[in-house]
Amino acid sequence: MVTLAAPDLRTEILRLKEERNAVILAHNYQVNEIQELADFVGDSLGLAYKARDTDAEVIAFCGVHFMAETAKIVNPDKKVLIPDLNAGCSLEQSCPAPRLREFLEQHAERNYYVVAYINCSAGVKALSDVICTSGNAVRMVESAPADRPILFVPDQNLGAWVMEQTGRKMDLWQGACYVHVEFTRDRIEQLRESHPDAAVVAHPECTYAVRMLADEVCSTEKMVDFARTTPASSIIVVTESGMLHRLRREVPEKTFIAGPTDTCRCADCRYMKLNTIEKLHDALLNLEPEVTLDEDLRRRAEKPILRMLELSR
Ligand code: 13P
Ligand code: SF4
Repeated sequence: MVTLAAPDLRTEILRLKEERNAVILAHNYQVNEIQELADFVGDSLGLAYKARDTDAEVIAFCGVHFMAETAKIVNPDKKVLIPDLNAGCSLEQSCPAPRLREFLEQHAERNYYVVAYINCSAGVKALSDVICTSGNAVRMVESAPADRPILFVPDQNLGAWVMEQTGRKMDLWQGACYVHVEFTRDRIEQLRESHPDAAVVAHPECTYAVRMLADEVCSTEKMVDFARTTPASSIIVVTESGMLHRLRREVPEKTFIAGPTDTCRCADCRYMKLNTIEKLHDALLNLEPEVTLDEDLRRRAEKPILRMLELSR
């Protein structure tokens, strides 16, 4: 690893970005330093569109592996880098492709229409009919065929929220995000006592008890719109801690309070936080770690992603 002081490191990353004809895409949960350097910061849906539409030869993807893998699936001819290859996701891990295949084979008579949350591997995407993100899950389920039962994988909380919104019954895979299930109703209510005028915005990966007390439940991108438009001047943000950087930068006139978990004050996703500017620098310098994929798997995983991108416009 190259050791440079922070301002030099930032300058060097921007120089390498030009030299490599690279674009830096970052998820809303990345550390502040990465968000500040990125060409685009957004949610999974915005990042998927940006990855598909970029002219750059190299995509330096600062997020977790399934996000960078999605960028590679829609961009087979580009080099997709991720600062740390170990940046996984507990939702992805909760639904291994061989287990989903086995389940679908065992229940073949159901002829499931599989809606997969984008937080899953290419193997799971390849077994699915359509992909969704938290930003478009309601729309993807509303556009599912009415005559087929839906299996929603892998997040049971997002799936349950979509059922509440659409009235469509679905069978839910029992996966969960280890960060979002740590938020509890009791702790948020306690916090609300000291901030009685604050609005509460929560991610749909939170449990039912938490979603019930939120003023708004939405994707990370829609949290920015909510923060701009709510009359409340302070907002309790019930999602991963990185979101607070984005909100404070884009809506500086409001106060953002981190939603409390039961175990610690700050909800960091240990996978998202594996990415650092030092690792981003090294990735651009060495053009690795690179996300690669078997071409047959990539083609099968691409179909449900393209269906989502078409239906989502
Ligand atoms: P968003 O698509 O809402 O940004 O969510 C991604 C994620 O991983 C939430 O934990
Ligand atoms: Fe996965 Fe949860 Fe981390 Fe999002 S916050 S990347 S769902 S582990």
